[in-house]
Amino acid sequence: MNLNDLNLLLNNLTVEEKIGQLIQLTGDFFDQEDEIIETGPMTKLGLDDNKYDVKNTGSVLNVVNGKDILNIQKNYLEQSKHKIPLLFMADIIYGYKTILPIPLAQTCSWNFNLVKDGASMMAKECFEAGIHVTFSPMVDIVRDPRWGRVLESPGEDTLLSKMYSKYMVEGIQGQDCNDEIGNNKIAACVKHFAAYGAPRAGLEYAEVELSQSTLWNDYFPGYKEAVDSGVKFVMTSFNLLNGIPCTGNIWLNKDILRGKFGFNGVLISDYAAIEELTKHGFTKDAFDSASIAFESTVDIDMKTSVYANNLLDVVKIDNKKLDLLNTAVLRILRVKNELGLFENPYRGVENEDRVTSILSSEHLDLSKNMAEESVVMLKNSRNILPLKKDLDVALIGPYIKEKATLGFWAITGENKDTITLEEGVKNLSDSMNWRVSYALGCPMVCESEIKNYGKYAEKIERVSVPEDKLREEAIEISSKSDVIILAVGESTYQSGEAGSRSNPCIPDHQIKLIKKLKKIGKPIVLIVYAGRPLIMSDIIDDVDAILYAWYPGTMGGQALANLISGNVNPSGKLSMTFPRNVGQIPIYYNTYKTGRPIDYENYNHRFYSKYLDEKVTPLFSFGYGLSYSNFIYKNFKVDNKSLKQEEKLKVSITIENRSEYIGKEIVQLYIDDMYSTIVRPRKELKAFKKVLLKPFEEVEVSFSITEEMLSFYDNEGELHFELGEFKIFVGSSSEDEMNQCIISID
Ligand code: GLC
Repeated sequence: MNLNDLNLLLNNLTVEEKIGQLIQLTGDFFDQEDEIIETGPMTKLGLDDNKYDVKNTGSVLNVVNGKDILNIQKNYLEQSKHKIPLLFMADIIYGYKTILPIPLAQTCSWNFNLVKDGASMMAKECFEAGIHVTFSPMVDIVRDPRWGRVLESPGEDTLLSKMYSKYMVEGIQGQDCNDEIGNNKIAACVKHFAAYGAPRAGLEYAEVELSQSTLWNDYFPGYKEAVDSGVKFVMTSFNLLNGIPCTGNIWLNKDILRGKFGFNGVLISDYAAIEELTKHGFTKDAFDSASIAFESTVDIDMKTSVYANNLLDVVKIDNKKLDLLNTAVLRILRVKNELGLFENPYRGVENEDRVTSILSSEHLDLSKNMAEESVVMLKNSRNILPLKKDLDVALIGPYIKEKATLGFWAITGENKDTITLEEGVKNLSDSMNWRVSYALGCPMVCESEIKNYGKYAEKIERVSVPEDKLREEAIEISSKSDVIILAVGESTYQSGEAGSRSNPCIPDHQIKLIKKLKKIGKPIVLIVYAGRPLIMSDIIDDVDAILYAWYPGTMGGQALANLISGNVNPSGKLSMTFPRNVGQIPIYYNTYKTGRPIDYENYNHRFYSKYLDEKVTPLFSFGYGLSYSNFIYKNFKVDNKSLKQEEKLKVSITIENRSEYIGKEIVQLYIDDMYSTIVRPRKELKAFKKVLLKPFEEVEVSFSITEEMLSFYDNEGELHFELGEFKIFVGSSSEDEMNQCIISID
């Protein structure tokens, strides 16, 4: 259809039919007899059937099976007067059936071409399942590991958030998708607008309080990058932002998103977020909520009765709102048109006996490759890794056999499809001549804690054997082995939405096992599964090597085995800081210098910005990660120290791989704007390159310093470029300051 046809269609709709396009309901409103729907889901949701007809509904939430989508669409269109197809939208965040590592892991790969390939694979599987829109990417910046949804975020850094945003949108939608989203592609929805990842104390759904310059410099860029990349949907977020709920925030949604960012796509509320405006204490009642959310240009009400029961009155009282309604409906019709739904409402599933690529070997390989590049090696003392051949290997811990390694937001993934760590190791045991034995060692979650997990409690495996017996078995097995592979961490149900933890650490019962095994005197390779940085200070000296696996997706077990054996060289680097203890949180790399920075030469001087009882440095820094290779940084140089504004200033450095392992190194460039009218952080990541080096190969890596890298936003959201001095760091992590120089811009 062209725009005229869409306008014609719009003009043929009654106000009730227009409002219907703004309502999103779940599948149970469509797959049953009318009377069941009326007495069931409609009543439960509080839908007034005098005001709202489900047959006018515009979109469906989280129906993810091709057959169901086909049937619902067919039944719906048979009864539809205007034959406007339903839009099927779902939470496919990092994989449909072939599940990738969680986004927080993916950004540790720093390989955004691979991120894009993964997004493209995900979109293709969604297309083949009949899904039209995915609520991904989530690009919320997160600096607090207590918050459970950090797992689905790109981490703490703005540049990585922007890269993740851009490459995910391009992978999901395709690059040139202005007026058409082609086959094997679907529409993306960037979320959560805005700054959902900065709740007070890491407490889920708690308020967010941020300065304007912090919003503009740190939190907004990821969303804006998605808009600049052509994202079709934006989702509001649950939180207050500086006292006003995002879902009813006219400044945020109308002035910033639509105005400054120029977004003209569809703004959808988060789940029931419009109804929650009253619970926030922002609106008096549902009519109020409908009115202000609509005024703030929220186009779709996800799964509440607020718009359905109240928008008719809202537009009757103020018929200027009719224009707003027409604009909103046209946005929705336009994206249905770009998906080709008017011509083919059954896109992707029209041919019931089609062959799909779901869980194909190609897709599984891609997931494995991403897992191999996402795992971060945090420790490798005595070069215990990679393990040699011809060893007795003890596999100990709750994550050796665990199949629930997909993470909280893999809602369509199936644990039965995952490769466990045990399976991955056993797949290599012949070629490596490893003699493998196993003991559980300890439960995933101790019995007393399981009750905290509500409906998820029954998903956490219970262990009847007493913990001391489990430990004895593990000690016996380990004593007879050459090396211990110990796989622990947090259960997938201790992370994710509403998964905030006040003390995100390796749990005591797992620490007890580690300490007991340490006493045996055998080398311990610790593998940690988690949806966030866990605090590991209590055990850091008890183990010889640490591989941080995150939730590594369908092929995680094989990827880890390939890394342990040296078939693959670890290359991941942290996209989020690891605290030493919970009291340091929030801790992240790009904090401010303060007026009393520590002078480490006089550390014991009292009046510095430091703690009395803990270091101010993290356990592991942003950008940190080890490799089997030994990368040497040398020949750092700047081609001229004073950048005239019209020139580009180049810095370069040589990286040598002084090892017999082929390896990838992530070379990072940070800039410290040494003085400015609004103080800038001690350093910020401004560029990076991931380079592949053969054994004993060396390569020169260079970066051009651009004006954009040296600019910042003020509290009015205006971009500034100021003359002055800038310290440039090029190194292997945010803490590596060996190679630095000062340039002046005059
Ligand atoms: C959830 C999440 C959001 C998700 C939506 C639909 O509560 O906040 O990320 O897309 O509801 O399931």
